[in-house]
Amino acid sequence: MNQKVKIGVFGAYRGMTMINVLLRHPDAELVAICDKYVPALQKAENAAKEAGLNIALYENFEDFFRHDMDAVVLANYANEHAPFAVRLLKSGRHVLSEVLPCETMAQAVELIEAAESSGKVYAYAENYCYMWHTFEMRARYERGDIGQVMYAEGEYVHDCSAIWPSITYGEKDHWRNNLYPTFYCTHSIGPMLTITGRRPVQVTGFVTQRNETVRPLGIKSGECAGIEILTLDNGAICKSVHGHLKREPGSVNYEIYGTKGSMESERFMPGYAKEGQQPELQVYREGEKLCIGKTERYVPGLQLIAAEMAQKFTTHGGSDFYPTHFFIERILGRPDGEKYSIDVYSAVDMGICGILAYRSALNGNQPMRVPNLRNREERDAWRNDNFCTNPAVAGKGQLLPCYPGGSLEYPDSVYEEVRNIWLSGKNAE
Ligand SMILES: NC(=O)c1ccc[n+]([C@@H]2O[C@H](COP(=O)([O-])OP(=O)(O)OC[C@H]3O[C@@H](n4cnc5c(N)ncnc54)[C@H](O)[C@@H]3O)[C@@H](O)[C@H]2O)c1
Repeated sequence: MNQKVKIGVFGAYRGMTMINVLLRHPDAELVAICDKYVPALQKAENAAKEAGLNIALYENFEDFFRHDMDAVVLANYANEHAPFAVRLLKSGRHVLSEVLPCETMAQAVELIEAAESSGKVYAYAENYCYMWHTFEMRARYERGDIGQVMYAEGEYVHDCSAIWPSITYGEKDHWRNNLYPTFYCTHSIGPMLTITGRRPVQVTGFVTQRNETVRPLGIKSGECAGIEILTLDNGAICKSVHGHLKREPGSVNYEIYGTKGSMESERFMPGYAKEGQQPELQVYREGEKLCIGKTERYVPGLQLIAAEMAQKFTTHGGSDFYPTHFFIERILGRPDGEKYSIDVYSAVDMGICGILAYRSALNGNQPMRVPNLRNREERDAWRNDNFCTNPAVAGKGQLLPCYPGGSLEYPDSVYEEVRNIWLSGKNAE
C-alpha cells in the first residue's frame, strides 16, 4: 500500500493524543472524528484546521461508521471497545483500540474471532509498554541481559480523586464510576508481558479495603485498589497493583528479576508525568562469579525508532506516539509494526487477567486458570460468559457488584456536586 492510510478517530478526549499524532504522521490521513460531546469535537476540528486539514466531524457513530476510511482508532469509553471493534473489523476496517480490550470473557472470544475472520489489523494501544523505561527493559530482556524472568512487579498508581470531576463529568453511569477494582489492569500487567514475551496461565485476584476518608465522588466500588498475582507460562510469578492508592507523584514502576540479573525503574523520582522527567533504570547483571556482577543506573532515553517524530510526544513517559505509529506500520506490513504492535491475542491476555482476577476475588481469592484463547478448543467454555458490572451487557444472572461486598450507592446530589465542580473548571478537594 503506497497511499496514506485513511484513519478516523472515535472519541475525542483521550483521542486527541491520537489525533495529534495522525495530523503529523507522513503515512496517515486523518479523515473523520466522532464524538457526541460537541466541545471536544470542536477542539479536534481546530487542531485539524491548524494543520491545514478539513476533516469530517460526526456526533453520531452510525454516520461516522459510513465514512470512507481504512482504519479507526477507538478512544471511546473503556468498557465499550470490543463491540465497536468487532463491528469495524467485520466491515473491513483496521482497528486500534484504547485500553481496555473487552468487558467480558465472551467479548474476548468474539474479538479474537472477528480479527481472525476479517484478516484486518487489530492493535492494542497499551502505551505503557512503550515508555522510555519499559521499552528499554524490553530491549535489554530481548538481548538476554538478565536471563529468564522469575519474578516481576508492575505498578500503576494514579490517585485520580482530585481530577475525578473532569474525567467523569458527574455522570452517574460513567465507566470510571462503574468499574470494579481489577478491571483497569493493563497499564500494570501489559509491560510485564511485553518485556518478557510470556503469557499468563493463572491469576489470583485481591481487592483492598475501601479508603473511607475520601469524600464521596460517586465511585461505586469505593476508593480501593486491585491486585493481580499472575503465574506465567514459564512458572514465573508477577504482581500487578493499580487503583486508588495515595501517592504523589503517581507510580508507573516495573521490576523484572531474571535468572542472570534484574531491572527496575526508579521509585522515588521527583515528578513522574511532569514534562520531560523520566525515571532512571537500574540494571544488575551477574558475571561469571555468583553474586558478583555489574550494576548500571541511567535514564534510558527514547528508543531510536522513528525518533524524530516520537520525540515530539513527551506525555505518558514518552510513550504516546508509538501505539498509533506501530498500528500504521503494521497496516503497511512493515517490520516495526509486525514486531511492536500489540496484537489481539496479547491484548486479550492482558485484559482478561483483570476480568478473571475479579472472579477470583469474589470467590475467596481462588486461583483462576487463564485460558489461551489462541486455541480454538478453549473458546467455547467462555463464549457465553458475560459476567460484568454493566447491566446492559451482563447476561441473565451475570450482573456483578462493583465491589465484592456490594456496590456503593450515592444520592444524585453527589453526582450533581461532581458535575458542578467539573463545570467550574476546578478540581475536587
Ligand atoms: N492509555 C492511556 O494512557 C489513557 C489515558 C486516558 C484515557 N485512556 C483511555 O481512553 C478512553 C477514553 O477515555 P477518556 O479519558 O477520553 O474519557 P471518556 O471515556 O470519558 O471519553 C470518551 C469520549 O468518547 C465519547 N463517546 C463515548 N461513546 C460515544 C458514542 N457512543 N458516540 C459518540 N461519542 C462517544 C465521549 O463523549 C467522550 O468524549 C478509555 O478507553 C480510557 O481507558 C487511556
